[in-house]
Amino acid sequence: MSLFSKWLGKLRFGVFTESDMNRNQVKTEEEPTGDSIPGHIAIIMDGNGRWAKARGLPRIAGHHNGMKAVKRITKAANRVGVKVLTLYAFSTENWKRPKAEVEFLMKLPQEFLSLELDELVENNVQVRMMGNRELLPDHTIHAIEEAVRKTAHNTGLILNFALNYGSRVEMVEAARELARKAVAGEIDPNEIEEADFESLLLSSGLPDPDLLIRTSGELRLSNFMLWQAAYSEFWFTDVYWPEFSEQHLFDAIREYQRRARRYGGL
Ligand code: IPE
Ligand code: IPE
Ligand code: MG
Repeated sequence: MSLFSKWLGKLRFGVFTESDMNRNQVKTEEEPTGDSIPGHIAIIMDGNGRWAKARGLPRIAGHHNGMKAVKRITKAANRVGVKVLTLYAFSTENWKRPKAEVEFLMKLPQEFLSLELDELVENNVQVRMMGNRELLPDHTIHAIEEAVRKTAHNTGLILNFALNYGSRVEMVEAARELARKAVAGEIDPNEIEEADFESLLLSSGLPDPDLLIRTSGELRLSNFMLWQAAYSEFWFTDVYWPEFSEQHLFDAIREYQRRARRYGGL
């Protein structure tokens, strides 16, 4: 049993002593609670490059530190009872970046999983990937497939990495598949429902994001979950991703809990 899971157990059963609290600097009273914890949080993890630049470091140092934030936020989300955490890690447009940066980014899943997979398994986290596998290097795919395989039976938090993900291509693929079925006479175009389209998206089987967070001050979706975010609550912060803390996550959740979701009704 890792220190983390012992600590998690203590937190769940409320047996922290004062010295535990000081050692771990956990302020349980500030953690959001209640039935209205968002079931699915999706995060556009942005600002790694600017975080590094502000410190006179190369952009890749920002990506490396962004990985630490992934760990921190995964743990915190799991702890407060989030069911699905989708993290936008690489978009279909990010291939436009310099080759060396892309190569570094493609090594991060391996690096992250080689450090964290055991703990993810122990903490009952299920790893998934959402994106087009075709252009990804073999070493990236292998690392992710191993994590997906080893965590497939876990029943806790779903940690869904959006990697080589683009919402437009995802929807075009779904449209192609429906068109193929129509041409083959398997479906009647007039009978196509929202659910038929949705079942062909890469997020099929997951609930839509309840809360969508973007860091770094940019106020756009950058081709992320355009269909799925139809009724998501948005939360933006100027904080760069490597600095995104548990408290930022909890602030976002608490604000979400104060919102009224009407879905067009009253
Ligand atoms: C987010 O940080 C990570 C990826 C998009 C891969 P950026 O690399 O976009 O950092 P900025 O936005 O240039 O600061
Ligand atoms: C969105 O960030 C993609 C990811 C966070 C993976 P970008 O940095 O690529 O987005 P733009 O270019 O600012 O819109
Ligand atoms: Mg960016």
